[in-house]
Amino acid sequence: MTPKLNSKNYIIRAFKYSDLQTFADYRARPEVAQFQSWSSYVLEDAISLFENIDYKNFAVAGNWYQLAITDIQTDNILGDLAVYFIDDQQVEIGFTIAPEFQKQGIAFEAINCLLTYLFTELKIHRIIAITDANNTASYKLLEKIRFRKEAHFIQNVFFKGVWGDEFQYALLSTEFK
Ligand SMILES: CC(C)(COP(=O)(O)OP(=O)(O)OC[C@H]1O[C@@H](n2cnc3c(N)ncnc32)[C@H](O)[C@@H]1OP(=O)(O)O)[C@@H](O)C(=O)NCCC(=O)NCCS
Repeated sequence: MTPKLNSKNYIIRAFKYSDLQTFADYRARPEVAQFQSWSSYVLEDAISLFENIDYKNFAVAGNWYQLAITDIQTDNILGDLAVYFIDDQQVEIGFTIAPEFQKQGIAFEAINCLLTYLFTELKIHRIIAITDANNTASYKLLEKIRFRKEAHFIQNVFFKGVWGDEFQYALLSTEFK
């Protein structure tokens, strides 16, 4: 079963139907879509994504799980985390915070909470994150969490009409403080 994690100010949990309109609305914002695979995003996209997540069987290798970051007082969704189980001991993460809640430390706190769970409860060995090389907010966030830059891929993705670069970051359980 998908865990429900508590940080100081937020809850990280499986999505509910009631989150999906807000989720679709912030995914549709140009500043959120800029470095992501979609250009537009509507409620039907969110429902389809949600209904394809196997929340009952968490941590299955080869599966993505989308987790909501919600306010601990109101349970309103503020952003989300994506977790992909590469194999039994390696995970890739992704993250988005709704524009009106950015730059308040939410991603930093929520990701640290998720990393603590993955490393200590699930005994994950290595966690990676891949970001567009122009996504300053994303790679600065990863560096603040102490992810290590492992790679700069040159023009490895044909993305929204142009070839783009990506950075890969990683963190081992032994490196996590
Ligand atoms: C990347 C993102 C998740 C950051 O979320 P956030 O909650 O605003 O981040 P935090 O407030 O926790 O910031 C933590 C650190 O990240 C870095 N950071 C965050 N936003 C930044 C920005 N706009 N410019 C530069 N650095 C930034 C800073 O180092 C910051 O630490 P500081 O406040 O001590 O300077 C958010 O900008 C976002 O959702 N962007 C759109 C979606 C996206 O591109 N996701 C990544 C896909 S790989």
